[in-house]
Amino acid sequence: MKAPFSAEPIETVAASDKRSGNPGPFGGYYAPVEAPIDAEITRTDRGTSLGEYMRKFWQPVCLASDLRDVPLAIRILGEDLVAFRDLSGNVGVLARRCAHRGASLEYGIIAEHGIRCCYHGWQFDVDGRVLSTPGEPLGSRLKDSVCQGAYPAFEKSGLVFAYMGPPAEKPPVPEYEAHAFPPDNKIVPFSNFLPCNWLQVHENIADQAHAVFLHVGMTIDPDAKAGEGTQLNASFGIMPTLEWVETRDGSGMVFIAGRRIGDRIWIRINDLLLPNITQHAHLFEDGEKPKIFANHLSMTRWAVPVDDTHTQLFGWRYFNDLVDPEHRGDASKCGKEKIDFLDGQVGNRPYEEGQRNPGDWEVLTSQGPISSHKLEHPGTTDAGLFLWRRLVRRAIRGQAPGASAEAIASLTRRCNPLPMYSQDSVLNIPARDGTDDQRLMREIGRRVFDIIVEADGVDPAARDSYIREQIRALEKTASA
Ligand code: FES
Ligand SMILES: [Fe+2]
Repeated sequence: MKAPFSAEPIETVAASDKRSGNPGPFGGYYAPVEAPIDAEITRTDRGTSLGEYMRKFWQPVCLASDLRDVPLAIRILGEDLVAFRDLSGNVGVLARRCAHRGASLEYGIIAEHGIRCCYHGWQFDVDGRVLSTPGEPLGSRLKDSVCQGAYPAFEKSGLVFAYMGPPAEKPPVPEYEAHAFPPDNKIVPFSNFLPCNWLQVHENIADQAHAVFLHVGMTIDPDAKAGEGTQLNASFGIMPTLEWVETRDGSGMVFIAGRRIGDRIWIRINDLLLPNITQHAHLFEDGEKPKIFANHLSMTRWAVPVDDTHTQLFGWRYFNDLVDPEHRGDASKCGKEKIDFLDGQVGNRPYEEGQRNPGDWEVLTSQGPISSHKLEHPGTTDAGLFLWRRLVRRAIRGQAPGASAEAIASLTRRCNPLPMYSQDSVLNIPARDGTDDQRLMREIGRRVFDIIVEADGVDPAARDSYIREQIRALEKTASA
């Protein structure tokens, strides 16, 4: 079709296809500049499907170290809140606007019990009850008829969690494997802010192909010595075989990445859990040394919507000799707006540094405040994103019984902590002449994953040794 007023050769214009979104060579004029967003799985204000779903889980809302002698203004799921620790040690997460006449409680005075509004002195306990209305006449019952908006909250290992859903549906508090094992695990809380929607931040973990390019191939420092100068170990620069599998009745998924490292196959698996949690195996893994089911975690992380166009990553970094025997991590570099792995995780670098050595922060925020999926042209490596989006959609539509907030709460009651699937295995399985090595890696990856899932039915005390025994047998058979 010839476009009006076009002086371009007819072939160039004919190559454009507005229906497919392909504008053709030099066809920028036809390229779409905006498209609708996928509101169902990006918007989290109260009353939205996803917002109501997310509210039924405990969410980190701030670092415990940010609770000082003045209240902390926070915004979570589009709600303006204030967090504080009262003088009795109780943590409060209250609506920021005072129930009396709307002054912000960020200017309040922290009390023995709760917080006192600076405007007329009303005092609210951490559960929102009005403890006093000092300007009212003696005997006034006004305080008994009002409650400040309040959410249950607690501190755990340096993070403050709140539950913002219907009180009757409050789930149990989940435990995390890395808190019990290894016993000397050092747990360091952190938070990183990104001015963009939560989904593009979270689904980045389902997009494992980006590690090959963004973190290795595209960011080689020309001044670095051989083998250095990339954000991740060079082994991450090998394009892996990739598979994504739904887990636990649709309440999560894993990616399975297989890489050939000489005579070995490195199988890496990471967990993504609804609604917004990821658990990461060793961040500095290089796939060089043999290992079988190294399930020591480096990090647990939540992509918490501040609102629809801002996200706060909260998490725990884990430090111990099992997960990081070479001590490549650095606990002193983790905390508020700082993290010890990869460049470009936080937004406080000079712009040009981000251009020369871009990281996750640059690519995620540059997708726009809410990335429009309609403008994407996905390839085979993007299948994991689509699985994740499908999981979220099915969960909030009630189409996956195992992914409802009630089902996940019930799973937590039965199995707390949930055994993680995240792990690295580096198996001695040389390539075979005449055999499709990519296919072999896929099969080994899938078998490793199946063994781990089978172990859900094994006594927790025997789980790890069962899995290792089975993977060892797999290695033996596959290398014979
Ligand atoms: S506005 Fe808070 S006490 Fe009046
Ligand atoms: Fe990344």
